[in-house]
Order: sequence, then C-alpha cells, then structure tokens
Amino acid sequence: MLTNSVKAEQKNILLNGEWKESENGNRITLNSPSNGEVIGSVPALSEKEVNKAVETASAAQKEWKNTALHERKQLLYRWADNLVENKEKIGHMIMQEVAKKKSSAIDEVVRTADLIRHTAEEACRITGDLLTGDSYNGGSPNKIAQVNRVPLGVVLAIAPFNYPVNLSASKIAPALMMGNSVVFKPATQGSLSGIMMIEELDKAGLPEGLVNIATGRGSEIGDALVTNPGINQISFTGGSETGMNLAKKASMVPMVLELGGKDPAIVLEDADLDKAAKEIVAGAFSYSGQRCTAIKRVLVKEDTADELVAKIKEKAEELKVGQPEENADITPLINEKSADYVQGLIDDAIDKGAEVITGDDRNGSLLAPTLLDKVTTESRVAWEEPFGPVLPMIRVKSEEEAVQIANESEYGLQASVFTQDIDAANRIADQLEVGSVQLNGKTSRGPDHFPFLGVKQSGQGVQGVRYSLLSLSREKVKVFNG
Ligand code: NAP
Ligand code: G3H
Repeated sequence: MLTNSVKAEQKNILLNGEWKESENGNRITLNSPSNGEVIGSVPALSEKEVNKAVETASAAQKEWKNTALHERKQLLYRWADNLVENKEKIGHMIMQEVAKKKSSAIDEVVRTADLIRHTAEEACRITGDLLTGDSYNGGSPNKIAQVNRVPLGVVLAIAPFNYPVNLSASKIAPALMMGNSVVFKPATQGSLSGIMMIEELDKAGLPEGLVNIATGRGSEIGDALVTNPGINQISFTGGSETGMNLAKKASMVPMVLELGGKDPAIVLEDADLDKAAKEIVAGAFSYSGQRCTAIKRVLVKEDTADELVAKIKEKAEELKVGQPEENADITPLINEKSADYVQGLIDDAIDKGAEVITGDDRNGSLLAPTLLDKVTTESRVAWEEPFGPVLPMIRVKSEEEAVQIANESEYGLQASVFTQDIDAANRIADQLEVGSVQLNGKTSRGPDHFPFLGVKQSGQGVQGVRYSLLSLSREKVKVFNG
C-alpha cells in the first residue's frame, strides 16, 4: 500500500515563465489508481487561460527561433541531467500516478534523459540542401536553391497517461531544438509527473514563455487548444478515437498522430517456441498491457498451438500480480472503467467459446494476466484494443490466414513474426499492413531513434528522434537568381 509514501502534491502550471494557479482557482484532484488515495491536484484552466498560453508561446517563439543551436542543445543537456538527478522523485510520482511498477517508472525517466540528449545531438546534424537549376531540363546553373529547415511556430503537445514523462518529452525536446515554442497538455492522470518534468526544464534555464502548461480535462479544454489559430503543429499521442476527432477539428494544421494498436504476433510451426513465448509474454503483459505496442493477439498455426499455449501459460503465471511499489509486473489498471472494459472483452470471448487458460481473476481494477485460447474471430477481443492484461490466442490453418486476419484489423501499428525461416519471415513482413514488423522479437517502440509510425487507425506521420525533428520543422527555400 502507498499510505506511508504519499505526499499530496498541489502543483501549479507554468504560464509565461511563472508558476501559477488557474485564475478561478479550479483544481482537479488526482487519486492513485492503486488505492484511491489523493496524490495531488492540478489547476483546471479556463478557455481564456488556454488562449493566453498559446499567445505567450507565440511571443516567446519569435526570440527563441533566433537562438543558436548550441544554446538550445545546452539547455536540453541541463534538462536531461536534472531529470537523471531526480529520477527517484519523478519515478515515484509516475508510480503513484499511473500505477507503473517502480523500476519501470524510474527507467522511464532515465530513458527520457537519453532521448533528450540524443535529440539535442541529432538536431545539430540536420543540415540544409543546395540545388542548382541546371540539373533540370532547361534550367540554369546560375539559379541556386538554398533549402533550410525552419521552425513551425507553436507546437501543441498532447500526451497520454501511459508514459507521462517519456511521451511528453519526445514531443517537447525536438520542438524546442527546431526553434519552436510549446503548449503542453499532459494527460490529466499523468499531469503531476508531466509538471515535475517541466519543473526540471525550468530549473535548467528555460526562457520565459517558451513552454506553457495547459492542464485540464481534454473533454473541456481540448477544443479550445486544438482549434486555436495560434497553434502551428499538433503532436498527439493517445487513443484512435480521440486522435481522429481532433484531426477533423484541426483541419489544415500539420499533425503527427500516434494512436492505438492491435499488434499481432504470428507464430509459425518452425519458430523457437521458448523464445516466442518469452517475447510474447513480455510484449503482452508489461505495464499490464497498457502500451500501444503491446502484443494484443497471437495468430498461431494449429499444429503448434498446444505447445505454445502451454509455454505462454507457464510464463504468464510467473508474473507477479500486485502493487507498483512492490515492483509487481501486473498492477492495477489506470481506472475502474478500463478494468470493466477489459473484463467485458474477456466475458464476451468466453461466451463465444474461448477457453480460459489462466487468469480471469479480478480484484477491483487489478486483473490477473489472462490467456484465452481458441478465440474466434467473432469475439470482440479479436479486434478491439483492450489496454489491459488479456491475450487472445487465435488458431489459424495457414500463413495466408494469419496474414489475412492480421490485416483485417482497423489498426496498423506493429506486428511480430516468429519463425526460423528467413524467407517466410520476409514474405509475411512484406504483406503486413503495419508501420514496423519485428522479426523474432516483441513489438516495441524503442530504441527511440528508430522510426515509429502507425498506418490505418494507428496514426499518421513518423516519430523517432530524427523523424520527430523533421516533422517539427519545415523546408524554407531561398532561390538565388544569378
Ligand atoms: P486518450 O484518452 O485518447 O487521451 C490522450 C490525450 O488526449 C490526453 O492528454 C487527454 O486528456 C487528451 N484528450 C482527451 N480528449 C481530448 C480532446 N477532445 N481534445 C484534445 N485532447 C483530448 O488516451 P489515453 O487513455 O491517455 O491513452 C491510451 C491510448 O493511447 C491507447 O489507445 C493507446 O494505444 C494510445 N497510445 C498510443 C501510442 C502510440 O505511440 N501509438 C502511445 C501511447 C498510447 P485527458 O487526460 O484530460 O482526457
Ligand atoms: O504506449 C505506447 C508507447 O509508445 C510504447 O512504447 O514499446 O517502448 O513500451 P514501448
């Protein structure tokens, strides 16, 4: 239990270089998903304050865009150092706020510092281009285009609850390095950790007004943020429905969307089943399945299924179910509503003939890792994203059927293929409609400089250090006519 370690944090927001309450004093109280204890509160901004945050960011960007790259880089390095120095404190808040196991919460802070440093370095390697006119039919060698990359202006960074520090910094750091300013909208459950991260950026010497925090429920302040004409780019990570609604409202504003997933693991009969089981269990159940890249279904050849199911069962039953501060692998889900949703998917699959191999045991929002075998494609869990610790096994007759079911999904984030036949691996990978295919490994985003993208309802645009830097800037062309 968290009782002895909770100190309720009444955090304020950073607006125009000052840490403030909201004007009307409204606050949102945040409770621990583990035990319901109050862990703190954050201001609930009004629409007027949201507009002020954008205005302030816009003014600050006019100066920031002229700062030297090495100055920006030094700011980011100091920020990264501060995060590492405070990894226990910030990790503790992540653990309390989103019920992530303690070691993973601290790892998230360290991973973020690494990402910030890599972003600072990589930005210095982004150079322009020089084109001469005579390489085009009828062009002149005296016509020269100088292509530079310039900032977009004010970036709206909207982050999800599941990586409240890492998936916020992965937007903010490249935005700043490319000369933009930022309005940061953290997930409400995750905003205490997000604010602590920005406190460290502020201590590192953040110029006034360059990053402004907009706390408040997305359902209340989301539209004011997204439709504000002062926003020049939106970098959003969250659910597909939220992202698609937001994209309609933001119309012509460029955006990168990292959305949901239903990543399949395809297992062929010649796979190393011990390795496959290990990777699948880690992929499906780490942070209780609350990762966009979690393995969310297994498509296994019928003649291999019994053996694979037995191996996954054994490993799933080794996972520790408990509280995040006990460093349990499976911890309470973000809220009761999410747990009800996951339970609904399990019940529906059982009604439709699935066999419970292990799990289907619940205490409030804490669900045991649940392995369901012989799941039919009529079941909701074959298609919907649970964001919880349930793994459906779907038995298939052929490689072709596996690919067909994989591609029938509305999502297209990642997929894993387990086989020792390199030709089969290549053939399947080429057919899968996803952003990335992992061969003989679990689905996952990192390392954070790899390109990370989803197709279909899993997103648009590309993240990953260099790709984020590019999406947070644009070409500017100067043509010299000699
Ligand atoms: P979510 O409910 O969609 O929320 C994401 C963010 O959007 C939060 O900051 C939320 O604020 C905000 N928001 C909500 N309504 C909004 C609106 N109308 N306008 C603007 N912003 C709004 O997602 P989540 O529950 O935090 O995260 C889980 C989902 O994210 C899963 O589907 C997961 O797959 C996806 N995800 C995807 C990736 C990826 O890289 N592809 C990574 C992580 C998570 P409030 O918290 O105030 O509601
Ligand atoms: O939840 C979505 C994250 O982008 C997943 O990151 O694969 O490193 O856990 P991860």
